[in-house]
Amino acid sequence: MIKNSEFVARRARLIAALDNNAVAIIPAAVELTRSRDTEFPFRQDSDFFYLTGFKEPGAVLVLTKDRDGNAQSTLFCRNKDKVAEIWHGRRMGYEQAKSQLELDQTFALSDLDDELLNLVNGRKILFYGQGTYNAFDDKVWQLLSTLRGAPKKGYRAPEIIKDIRPLVHEMRLFKSDAEIAIMREAGRISAEAHKRAMQFAKPGATEYQLEAEIHHHYAMNGARHPAYGTIVGSGINATILHYTDNCDALQDGDLVLIDSGCELEGYAADITRTFPVNGQFTDAQRKIYELVLAAQNAAFGEVKPGGTLVKANQVAMTVLTQGLVDLGILAGDVNELLEAQACKAFYMHGLGHWLGLDVHDVGEYKLDEADRPFEPGMVLTIEPGLYFDEDAQVPDEYKGIGIRIEDDLLVTESGYENLTALVPKTIAEIEALMNN
Ligand code: GLY
Ligand code: MN
Ligand code: MN
Repeated sequence: MIKNSEFVARRARLIAALDNNAVAIIPAAVELTRSRDTEFPFRQDSDFFYLTGFKEPGAVLVLTKDRDGNAQSTLFCRNKDKVAEIWHGRRMGYEQAKSQLELDQTFALSDLDDELLNLVNGRKILFYGQGTYNAFDDKVWQLLSTLRGAPKKGYRAPEIIKDIRPLVHEMRLFKSDAEIAIMREAGRISAEAHKRAMQFAKPGATEYQLEAEIHHHYAMNGARHPAYGTIVGSGINATILHYTDNCDALQDGDLVLIDSGCELEGYAADITRTFPVNGQFTDAQRKIYELVLAAQNAAFGEVKPGGTLVKANQVAMTVLTQGLVDLGILAGDVNELLEAQACKAFYMHGLGHWLGLDVHDVGEYKLDEADRPFEPGMVLTIEPGLYFDEDAQVPDEYKGIGIRIEDDLLVTESGYENLTALVPKTIAEIEALMNN
């Protein structure tokens, strides 16, 4: 649970990073139509949520800093409306929002056009992240046009427009103690869900039934939604990296790859495990699995302050390349194969990514031109894989095998904490769980 004081402190830190005589506009997400008059489940914009903790659609946060550095946080949100609330659900209302969210001022959304004009007029710099919400972009460009068009009225548009996102994203990259506690819990719930799916799997069950087992576990443990579309790929489907059809029945002798994590209080977990449908790895599956696991373990060793994702990936690729040569899948000198990135034919994605409010979370991967070193408080995934589809140039016994192993690591002072360590991962652990 993130206390309101943390959201207040985040706004203060962001405002401190703004220039004087500036205004920042951060819109909430809007509801999206699924079909006719039904909407997709609403998900708040991550930047907006990070700065407010407010979950309603259509709101707008405005941060202003005058010439002397005096700051003000303003929120526009939906008005209380008895009829709308009877039909569609409760609203906080702007009066309640002011005290509950500890804002300096709040307005009803119906006042947005007039009041936003007052807040932006005369400021030298506008901080805004264009390109996410087209309708809101139009509103901002219209506002600037109005301000530019009437100097005699005392209107003056900002001369400079800066992207607000790099400032917010740099903050989001480093997790607070409260965020880490939530992510630990998200990792734990997700890990338990993967165990449940392993225990449920058997020939004849469907991929979507495994998905249902997992989502049921999330909901029964306080996480109503998955953080992204759950991937359950059995057999050859496991070689499709972001397979979400999840429509086939599991076949005896196949592997099944599950990539799923819950979203808890906005924060994502992201776990992949690959295991045999019948609880017993074949020889060929075992060889590839051990190789991917060795690559993951080697990469884990690079996750510590000062390490980089690029270095961890080099280490993982070295293990994969050597292993593929040993198995007769690649031929040639390992150094030359590494130089040519030959293993990329079977390992098509990156080693990992930042994790937080978004599954592919925000934050720069380079600082200036250099690879960004890990620092305590960052959370990332490490997820090597090998995928041999029907067209892969490999011995027949490996065709149709897709394996990814993914965990979520928090960088600590001395190395890392694995937030998703609870799911069985060695072949012995997996077979033991599935056969008991
Ligand atoms: N679940 C998407 C990914 O692993 O990046
Ligand atoms: Mn991932
Ligand atoms: Mn994943």
